[in-house]
Amino acid sequence: MFMHFILLVSYSLTFLCTHQVSSFDPSCTEFPVFTPSALVVKYGDPANVTCDACQKDCRGDSFGLETPVGEVRQNGTTMIWTVDRLTEWDTYLICYYNTDDGDQCTSTVDITIYQPPESVSISFVNHTGMMFENQQYTLQCSVQNVAPVQSLTVTFYRGNTALGHQQSNSEQKKPVNESFTLNITPSREHDGAQYWCETKLELGPAGPQRPPVVTSEKLPAIVHYGPELKEPPNPDVITITEGDTLHLNCSSVGNPSPSYTWTLPTNSPSYSGSVLTIKSVGFEHEGQYICTVSNTVGTVTKEFNIDVQVNSIPYIIAGMILGALVLVGLSVGCYCKHN
Ligand SMILES: *[C@@H]1O[C@H](CO)[C@@H](O)[C@H](O)[C@H]1NC(C)=O
Ligand SMILES: *[C@@H]1O[C@H](CO)[C@@H](O)[C@H](O)[C@H]1NC(C)=O
Ligand SMILES: *[C@@H]1O[C@H](CO)[C@@H](O)[C@H](O)[C@H]1NC(C)=O
Ligand SMILES: *[C@@H]1O[C@H](CO)[C@@H](O)[C@H](O)[C@H]1NC(C)=O
Ligand SMILES: *[C@@H]1O[C@H](CO)[C@@H](O)[C@H](O)[C@H]1NC(C)=O
Repeated sequence: MFMHFILLVSYSLTFLCTHQVSSFDPSCTEFPVFTPSALVVKYGDPANVTCDACQKDCRGDSFGLETPVGEVRQNGTTMIWTVDRLTEWDTYLICYYNTDDGDQCTSTVDITIYQPPESVSISFVNHTGMMFENQQYTLQCSVQNVAPVQSLTVTFYRGNTALGHQQSNSEQKKPVNESFTLNITPSREHDGAQYWCETKLELGPAGPQRPPVVTSEKLPAIVHYGPELKEPPNPDVITITEGDTLHLNCSSVGNPSPSYTWTLPTNSPSYSGSVLTIKSVGFEHEGQYICTVSNTVGTVTKEFNIDVQVNSIPYIIAGMILGALVLVGLSVGCYCKHN
């Protein structure tokens, strides 16, 4: 009976032991290690990576590296994978070893194969010809044959000003063509500005030190807008003294350049300049002047109401002379009287 008990206990202990080995001590005590741990390779470039199938506790003697491309050399438990030209978009590398218990311990390495865009171009969507101020337009940046598009950042620029960044939602690993759009509402300050887009493949720390950048050509913007007067509005009435010089300034900006027409109070010859000058104002110049500024986009008008005042200086001088004469006359009279 005692012997039976011993046997039972030892059997249970053995059972417990084997049970513990398979549940608490997983058969993979370590995993194969790739060096480097991530690969970023330009399409068509050579690549290499090593894998230590098992570094310390290699009990199995069967290990290997599975991959559809390249060559694998072996040195001990280290495998060296090389490829002269990586041209397979769906590449993978699986490094493994088999444990005594028939389990397989595997590791994979992240492989990113990239291709900078073949071309990047910018255009307007559904629009040709001129642009108008305060209207909305859509810029489109078209990128051709880029991979992986997920790592691509597209930035729209006006001159040196970045207008916005965009990224793709696609997870496609092979090269794709994709267009990115941005709505813009140009203002007159943007007339003559240049729009362009820049693409950057940001491939992380394993990627090239300088992310590949491809930029589009520059798209000049011509923004048309109606005339705008440069000088502040006039007072209701402009008073000027007879004989003075009068400048009526109607200077305006606009695109295309505006033209000027004047409506004058008298039957003066027509005038089409931005500033109307009258060298010496007379009473015949009194009245309303209307300047009409227009281009293909719009028209503005400016009114000048001119009031001409009598120049009193000649009268004052005349008055003074007259006064002096009177005084002289009086004193002469007195002198005569005294004598
Ligand atoms: C392996 O790849 C690295 C990084 O691309 C490179 O510097 C090195 O020369 C390559 N070695 C071989 C043997 O091809
Ligand atoms: C194998 O690896 C050992 C140790 O890293 C090295 O000394 C030896 O040159 C390697 N042999 C080959 C054929 O690469
Ligand atoms: C461009 O115009 C076409 C035809 O008028 C229309 O079908 C299309 O949706 C427009 N595209 C955009 C982006 O507005
Ligand atoms: C991208 O566009 C180019 C030119 O239009 C075309 O030749 C190529 O097949 C396109 N690529 C894809 C992936 O659609
Ligand atoms: C008219 O106004 C414009 C804009 O303010 C100014 O540049 C120009 O010198 C003015 N011309 C005259 C003759 O006053």
